[in-house]
Amino acid sequence: MTKGSTSVKLGLIGCGWVTETLHLPALRGVRAVDVVAVADGDPERLKRVADRFQVQQRHTDYSALLKDPAIEAVGVWLPSDRQVEVAQAVLAAGKHLFIDKPLVFDLKVWDGLIEQAAQSNRKIMVVGLPRRWHRLMRRAREVIRQGSLGKLDLIRTVLTGRNPERRSFHEEGDRHAVKGILYQFGVHHFDVVHSLLQSDVEEIFTAISGDRSTVVVTARLSDDLLVSSTFSEGESRNDEVEIYGQAGRLRVSCYRFDGFEYFPPAAHPGDMKTRVQLATQTLKELPQGLLRMRQGGDFIDSYRVGWQHNVDAIRQDTRPDCTLEEGRRVLQVVLAAMESAALGRPVKVTQISHDRI
Ligand SMILES: NC(=O)c1ccc[n+]([C@@H]2O[C@H](COP(=O)([O-])OP(=O)(O)OC[C@H]3O[C@@H](n4cnc5c(N)ncnc54)[C@H](O)[C@@H]3O)[C@@H](O)[C@H]2O)c1
Repeated sequence: MTKGSTSVKLGLIGCGWVTETLHLPALRGVRAVDVVAVADGDPERLKRVADRFQVQQRHTDYSALLKDPAIEAVGVWLPSDRQVEVAQAVLAAGKHLFIDKPLVFDLKVWDGLIEQAAQSNRKIMVVGLPRRWHRLMRRAREVIRQGSLGKLDLIRTVLTGRNPERRSFHEEGDRHAVKGILYQFGVHHFDVVHSLLQSDVEEIFTAISGDRSTVVVTARLSDDLLVSSTFSEGESRNDEVEIYGQAGRLRVSCYRFDGFEYFPPAAHPGDMKTRVQLATQTLKELPQGLLRMRQGGDFIDSYRVGWQHNVDAIRQDTRPDCTLEEGRRVLQVVLAAMESAALGRPVKVTQISHDRI
């Protein structure tokens, strides 16, 4: 994966599912970055991934990758218990750091990384919250910022389904299925809501189903707006955010190329004019939608846009959009949601300072 001598030289630690399926395919489309080295403790996996993406340098011990002075930036995609320790080694080696959302369930551990980062003059970027880069979410953010929906009344979000390529939380033998659902699903929508509205969750209440496969969360934001979110590891897949404003409603469906639907305030969703308008819009967007699907779809594109933003932040010495503090924000909301599930009552998010579960 060589693109030029002025490109950022990147090494990736961990060649598992997420690296092979999302990051490396996305990085193919990112300008001014070269993936020059990969590391993984499993030699067979390392060879397979490095061969597939034509990465020359391969290491079974990641410290060899960190010792290479030619490598300027390193991404860490390891099992959760290794994430912070290896990220700290990356910073100690003087490299820019790309990291997933926080995978530790303890704010103090993440705060330790934030403290170390404050001493470093390298860039530290979270690339594990891709929905903020999703094409349709960016469009929605623009509409909200322009005030086109008027005063907002409520937000409703749904993220359901399971990834057939990965084991479910129950199959993993996860004793904390609710933690898994809130973390793997909730974290993404808590981040989307913040990136759309720029307001924080103040208070949260969590209800869980008897079989612990579905979680419904209601959140009160700092501007008093209410958000209702449903997360479920059932078989039906959906990933949708609806924003209700006094000047109209926006429905954004991340899985559909035509998943950006605006309903004027007085329009009835079932009336013929609205339905014809939406059908016409789908037909108009179909050719681009098919092209995008051939290029990997909107999710790979979300990762590509996020990587490009961060590579540009290194090259142009600008502040990246998604930092360790952004990661901390969603971790704190997840911890508050978990505490609410355990206590059966609403919890103030700022009262959470560590993992009490
Ligand atoms: N943000 C997201 O949306 C998202 C999505 C999927 C996964 N993830 C996270 O990304 C991380 C990686 O996920 P995955 O699905 O690729 O997992 P995975 O189990 O498929 O891959 C982990 C890889 O790390 C390697 N590894 C483990 N210890 C190592 C060490 N000490 N040195 C070198 N290599 C080592 C393993 O051999 C394996 O190839 C996980 O922590 C997961 O929670 C985030």
